[in-house]
Amino acid sequence: SQSLRLGVAGLGTVGAAVVRMVARRAAALAAATGRDIRVVAVSSRDRTRDRGFDVAGLHWFDDPVEMARSAEVDCVVELIGGSEGPAKAVVEAALAAGKPVVTANKALLALHGAALAKSAETAGVALAYEAAVAGGIPVIKAIREGLAGNAVSRVYGIMNGTCNYILTRMEREGLTFEACLKDAQALGYAEADPTFDVEGFDTAHKLAILTSLAFGTSIDAEGVSVEGISGVKPLDLRMAEELGYRIKLLGVAQATEAGIEQRVHPTMVPKSSSIAQVMGVTNAVTIDADAVGELTLIGPGAGGEATASAVVADIADLAAGLSRPTFGCPTASLRPAERVEMQRH
Ligand code: NDP
Ligand code: HSE
Repeated sequence: SQSLRLGVAGLGTVGAAVVRMVARRAAALAAATGRDIRVVAVSSRDRTRDRGFDVAGLHWFDDPVEMARSAEVDCVVELIGGSEGPAKAVVEAALAAGKPVVTANKALLALHGAALAKSAETAGVALAYEAAVAGGIPVIKAIREGLAGNAVSRVYGIMNGTCNYILTRMEREGLTFEACLKDAQALGYAEADPTFDVEGFDTAHKLAILTSLAFGTSIDAEGVSVEGISGVKPLDLRMAEELGYRIKLLGVAQATEAGIEQRVHPTMVPKSSSIAQVMGVTNAVTIDADAVGELTLIGPGAGGEATASAVVADIADLAAGLSRPTFGCPTASLRPAERVEMQRH
C-alpha cells in the first residue's frame, strides 16, 4: 500500500509516545487506513536521551524546519510546543511546502490559528489538532463532526489536567500547591512553562479553539477573561467543602445577546454535581446543543499516551484522506472580554 512518511518534531512526553504508538499500532493503522504509516524522521535537541525507542533507523534532524522541508517527509507532526519560535517555524515551513500538519499545540493555534489555517487552505492540505484540546478526549471530532447538525448554546468544562490534578490533591491530601505542581510536572502533564496551566492561559487557549468550532467565530484567545488557580488556598478548598462545594477551574463559552462570551476562572460547583466528581488529570467538556441537549465527554486531559492517542487519530484520518477545513468560516461574533469584566463590577 502507499506509505505515509511522518516527520516528528519534538520527542518529549507526547512526541516520544507518538513515535512508539505509530510503531506499536502499525498493523492496525494499515488495516484501518489502507496505508503503511511510518515515522521516518525525527527532530529534537538532545540526540543522546533515551526516549523509549530506537532512533537508529530514523533520520535525525537537528533543525526541525529542515526536516519539515525534507523530501523524505510527507506529513509533519509538531510536538515541540510554544506559540512562537521553532514550533511556529516548523508548521509554517511544512504548510509552505504543501505538507499536512498534525499538532497538539493549542498555544500556537490560539494565537496564530487564523493565519495558519489560511496557509493550510492555500496549500490545500490539512492542519489537524485533535490533541490540542482535552488530551485524549476526541472533543474536536465530537463538536465539528458529531454535532454538525446542532446549534450550540454553551460549551464548558475542565480543560486543564494539571490544574484539576493540583486541586484534587490539595483537597484530598492537604498537600501544598507547590508540591502538587511539582508532581504534575514530573508526570508530564504541565506545560514547559507551568504558568500557562496555573494562571488559566492554557484553558483559555483551548476554550478559544472550542468556541471557534462550536459557535463559528474566529479564534480570539485575547477575548477570554482569565483567572487561574494560583490564588486558591487550602483554606478556600476547606471552606468550599464545608459549604458542600468543590473548586474547579472551568472554561466557559456561551451565547449571549452581545455575542459569545468566553471566560476561565475557579468556580464553586456543588459536590453532588457530575463535574465535581471529575478528579485528577481527568478533563470533562459539556456541550449544550439544540438537537442533542446536553452532552458530556470525560477522559484523560494530559499525559503522553492519552495525548498520543489523539495525535495518532489525526494521522489516521489524514492517511485515510479524511480532512476538514481547519476552523471553518467565521459566522458569529464574540463578546469582547472587557465587557464581561465591566458587567461584573
Ligand atoms: P515536552 O517539553 O515534553 O517536549 C518538547 C520537545 O520539543 C522536547 O523533546 C524538546 O527536545 C523538543 N524541542 C524543543 N525545542 C526544539 C527545537 N528547537 N528543535 C527540535 N526539538 C525541540 O512537551 P510535551 O511533549 O509535553 O508537549 C508537546 C506539545 O504537546 C505542546 O504543544 C503541548 O502543549 C502539547 N500537549 C501536551 C500534553 C501533555 O500532556 N504533555 C497534552 C496535550 C498537548 P529535547 O527533548 O531534546 O529537549
Ligand atoms: N498542560 C496541559 C494540561 C496539557 O495540563 O491540561 C494538556 O493540554
